[in-house]
Amino acid sequence: MDHRLPTHITPEKYSILLAPDLEAFTFAGEETILLTVLQPTKEITMHSAELSVLTAKLVDGATGQEGIITYDTERERVTFTFPEEVTPGQKELVLTFSGILNDRMRGFYRSKYEVDGQTLHMAVTQLESTDARRVFPSFDEPSHKAVFEVSLRIPQDHTAISNTIEEVVEEHEGEYKLVKFAPTPRMSSYLLAALVGKFEKVETTTPEGILVRVFTTPGKHEQAQFALETASKMLSFYNDYFGFDYPLPVCDLIAVPDFDAGAMENWGAVTFRETALLIDPQNSSLANKQRVALVVAHELAHMWFGNLVTMEWWTHLWLNEGFACYIEYLAIAAIFPEWEIWDQFIAMEHNDALSLDGLKNTHPIEVEVKHPSEIVEIFDQVSYAKGASIIHMLATYLGKDVFREGLRSYLKKHAYQNAKTEDLWGAFEEVSGQPVTEIMHTWTSKPGYPVISVDTNDGMLELSQKRFFSSPLSRKENNDTTLWQVPLTIRSEEKEEEILLTNETLSIQRPSGWVKVNAGEASFARVAYEPTLLTELEKPIIEKTLGTRDRLGIIRDAFDLSYAGDMDAPEALKITKSFVEETEYVVWLEIAGQLQRIKGLLGADEQIVADFNKFGKQLFRQIAEKMGWEKRPNESQTQVLLRSIALHQLGSFEDPATREIARKMFDDFVEHQTPIDPDIRGVVYALVADKGGKKEFEIFTDLYRKESLHQEKDRIGRAITSFENPEILEKVRTWILSDDVRTQDKTRLIYVLFMNPYARKATWEFVKTHWDYFFNQFKGSHGMSRLVEGVGELTSEKDALDIAAFFTAHPTPEVARTIEQVQETIRSRADWIAREKEKIADYLKTS
Ligand code: BES
Ligand code: ZN
Repeated sequence: MDHRLPTHITPEKYSILLAPDLEAFTFAGEETILLTVLQPTKEITMHSAELSVLTAKLVDGATGQEGIITYDTERERVTFTFPEEVTPGQKELVLTFSGILNDRMRGFYRSKYEVDGQTLHMAVTQLESTDARRVFPSFDEPSHKAVFEVSLRIPQDHTAISNTIEEVVEEHEGEYKLVKFAPTPRMSSYLLAALVGKFEKVETTTPEGILVRVFTTPGKHEQAQFALETASKMLSFYNDYFGFDYPLPVCDLIAVPDFDAGAMENWGAVTFRETALLIDPQNSSLANKQRVALVVAHELAHMWFGNLVTMEWWTHLWLNEGFACYIEYLAIAAIFPEWEIWDQFIAMEHNDALSLDGLKNTHPIEVEVKHPSEIVEIFDQVSYAKGASIIHMLATYLGKDVFREGLRSYLKKHAYQNAKTEDLWGAFEEVSGQPVTEIMHTWTSKPGYPVISVDTNDGMLELSQKRFFSSPLSRKENNDTTLWQVPLTIRSEEKEEEILLTNETLSIQRPSGWVKVNAGEASFARVAYEPTLLTELEKPIIEKTLGTRDRLGIIRDAFDLSYAGDMDAPEALKITKSFVEETEYVVWLEIAGQLQRIKGLLGADEQIVADFNKFGKQLFRQIAEKMGWEKRPNESQTQVLLRSIALHQLGSFEDPATREIARKMFDDFVEHQTPIDPDIRGVVYALVADKGGKKEFEIFTDLYRKESLHQEKDRIGRAITSFENPEILEKVRTWILSDDVRTQDKTRLIYVLFMNPYARKATWEFVKTHWDYFFNQFKGSHGMSRLVEGVGELTSEKDALDIAAFFTAHPTPEVARTIEQVQETIRSRADWIAREKEKIADYLKTS
């Protein structure tokens, strides 16, 4: 079945009027579409879903004819059939229609908020990927770019927001007004925005003259200040960096209380969930602030990458998302240099990408998509994080200036149009004179990435590559012989050397002293050293002659090679001992992540848990004590982040003193309202909740209900998912489905609940029991992906079979690949436990 629209009719301009009814939860619409018809036709087919098209009229100069309306529900289309043939040329199609303001956070939906104790609703659009068709009949494919002229009919005391600036406001039928917005630039349908509600705002103008406004629900405008300052600095940064002026007079950022994803880059009217935009100086943590800055940077990067130049089809989605995911770090590095954000890039994006792309059930960055249900699924860490990581690799290889020139030429050449991956490589190739297409082709067209083995032989260093699989089970029966072109910097005690590995193997002179391959973790690969080379790296780790990212890379590869079956887990654990004197946040973050992952797999066997806790305490004691509970003057951002990791780890490995302090802080807060620094609040809550009972459950759920700052709600919510007591966990699950928890947060909380080893089994039973609810509410949403990803935390072959059987009985094509991935992960985990648990138990006895 063909899922692309025919190309002989293209939209040039849409004039759309939307009139939402915020009490009946419906909307009425009128639109006139200026079309170019290339071939004579009696039929016009476009997208439409969940809409009633009331009238369709084709206007050709002075004549007009009514069309007969038929729907194709499966393909989400509507066809208008006209009595007279429509001749080639420019025509106008005039439609009236109506729809529902739904509660599923997609299309045109309603979001709930409170003003002075009164519950109100706002109307919000969320159109990516294929939901413009749920708001107005449209040619809803990214390559059908057109100009949009939006008008909104709204109550007098409400505010309307759309992509551009309001041009005319007219009184309309007494209690309403009609707000007409200036036409947009040529853009894709998924970027349209329309919001109607009661808002407060703060605003500023950038030196380039762009009006920047941040909108919140009433009472929250003070929390918009940080985003406003950050966004305006970023717009200036991008304007200069991309060498292409932001084409709209205004850039609005809007906090929406109910939001499926994190944020959405509608051109000129970017929408966010509250946690990704609002900062309360007293109660938001530095981690919250960093998240807001990253999300704002990401969405604003899309104003150029995605909105100005758009992927031709969803196959090239990574051009939007992978790029924005890379550029957000570039902007943060320029605006907040003290955050050491590139280290965090390696710790976060690189890690996520290496994990997902190590599975057999991964997919190439570029993947064929047809039906809309296949699109949601590619908004994953392959498109985002792997996309960003291979761009990072290329940027490092080409150098900053050449990279920037390439981007500028790409944007200029394809502005207001669409592009494919090859267009981007072509631009880099032109400015650099390097064979960029040849180097990059495999990275986007093939799944996976290489592991580079490094061995010594007779004064030589021998490198060889093969595809990495994250477990022996994943590798089994897969004889993938892909060879990548891998730029590698080899750092050694004496020098730095750059090579491009293009064949399976390469030999170079062995430099003297220690050798670290893939310096700075710049390339998207893992490294497996022969044992002596690995031992030699202990010295530069301890002396910190190796950089932060290199130290991090050594740890993560060691652990992941153990999951892959290429190293014993105790070997990896032993390496952590060289890190007792470590001082960098991201390295500790990596170590903490790896230890918790193992702890989660070891099960409830008391002896092994006790021994593992002892090991963890030994490792984290020194850094936790060094950081202490109190902030010191002039501490860096990353030191603040490190404190909370170190204390949390020491506490979670059952250090009684750490737990006592947390308990005391919590009791003082509950009984005497003694404030807890937001940067350690999450740790305090977690260390109180895990061993807590009914009393703690009530305190936390009460705090959650009364809290209005969403970041604080999330912190409390996380604590609520970390109880260990099975009866309390039963209450936690019921609570998640209650009205106390917004729909947008429900599957995210279930996802964290799956991370809790005491909860995961019962959580899966719960998901199955309530499947009808989850399916109807979250089908095709980000929320659904979260839910299914969580299932991957289960640990036995029996679980994998149960999952397979369940999804056979309950087909959910939108998450088909995720379902395969979670089964693969579960089987690999079971296999690892069988292979490594005893070895670890033995090692812990003697360590
Ligand atoms: N374009 C996406 C949001 C989106 C994706 C909406 C898929 C609908 C379907 C947006 O630019 C985005 O990537 N948002 C991220 C946050 C970002 C900082 C990684 C998100 O929502 O998680
Ligand atoms: Zn994005």
